[in-house]
Amino acid sequence: MNPFVYRNGILCAEGVPLPQIAAEHGTPCYVYSRAALLARYEAFRQALAGRDAMICYAVKANSNLAILNQFARAGAGFDIVSGGELARVLAAGGDPAKVVFSGVGKTADEMRQALASGVFCFNVESAEELERLNELAGESGRTAPIALRVNPDVDPKTHPYISTGLRSNKFGVAYADAFALYLRARELPHIDIAGIACHIGSQLLDPAPAAEAAGKVLALVDQLADAGIILRHLDLGGGIGIRYRDETPPDVADYLAPILAQLAGRKEKILFEPGRALVGNAGILLTRIEYLKHGEEKNFAIVDAAMNDLMRPALYDAWHDILAVRQDAGAEAEYEVVGPVCESGDFLGHARRLAVASGDLLAILSAGAYGMAMSSNYNTRPRAAEVLVDGAKSFLVRGRERPEQLFALETVID
Ligand code: LLP
Repeated sequence: MNPFVYRNGILCAEGVPLPQIAAEHGTPCYVYSRAALLARYEAFRQALAGRDAMICYAVKANSNLAILNQFARAGAGFDIVSGGELARVLAAGGDPAKVVFSGVGKTADEMRQALASGVFCFNVESAEELERLNELAGESGRTAPIALRVNPDVDPKTHPYISTGLRSNKFGVAYADAFALYLRARELPHIDIAGIACHIGSQLLDPAPAAEAAGKVLALVDQLADAGIILRHLDLGGGIGIRYRDETPPDVADYLAPILAQLAGRKEKILFEPGRALVGNAGILLTRIEYLKHGEEKNFAIVDAAMNDLMRPALYDAWHDILAVRQDAGAEAEYEVVGPVCESGDFLGHARRLAVASGDLLAILSAGAYGMAMSSNYNTRPRAAEVLVDGAKSFLVRGRERPEQLFALETVID
């Protein structure tokens, strides 16, 4: 479902006209649709119906408490990568017993925090991490449930910055080393071998690489079973892509089908860790045009959002569709949509045809994932407000930052 549609020439979020949100909360402002989030979660749930499965939302995609809380209430688990994300999940009412802790660089403090909370599983990514976890679990009188994250060396065919399952990536344990590391884990007194994990990359549009990776994981699971190591769960990661421009990602069910086909007759619990697929198209970034500037070569629409608010265009040259909130507002021209930050890389879209005037609102689409979550305070820009829409109602779920908050932890010296 697309919750961002025009009604009477005005772009709305569900039942709320975007100009109303801008008037109430200012711009730039992230706007999310509750119905869209939940519809996407439901698509995963249905695709996995009848199986012992857990959908662990990847918190890094969008970690606003209100969003985590919606998923927690829908029954989701969570994939976290830091102690901070664990704290957010707990504050949002998430169940630690449904949390998987991923990441290549877990600190001792983060491990202690996760052990004390009783997370479902640590996805361990190196031999040293396994030894450290065993020691810390012993010190705290606990046993740590683990999965080894294996690196299946499969090309996910996506942007190189978001490929994670190639041999050359820093992620996971090399496929060839995983068996021996499981044997080592079996020797460790404070480690409970629970499962296996794998995640090959993000914004994946073709299900074949994920299915290939699942096949490799299953071969290892069988090899381990022969050695008497019986795994209880398979975590097949996240990565399912969405439409930003003209991509045609498969439905969730179609994407998962070739993976699930390989799991027929298996007893292990199945986990997925989707992030973008749940929230990406459930959010937009609402921004106002400060100035239109007609240069010699190009026209610029200078807006009040910038690369610090939405980094994806600057960082990955990512495309986000941009819509005028008011339809048919005059003659169309081609604009570079840029922010006020002092970098030439500060753009939100190149060569966009828009019919707009100064003061108009624009909606940057597909901004629900890795938008606010990757924002920064560069140029001492307070981060945007966040609003969650539910039908005809809108709720401020994160207030706009104030400059004095940005330097509150700083001191001057004599
Ligand atoms: N699980 C693990 C272990 C991950 O590393 C990630 C994402 C996910 C799950 C969720 O992936 P998703 O379903 O959202 O594709 N900043 C980049 C994306 C980085 C993804 C990092 N890992 C972007 O804006 O495209």
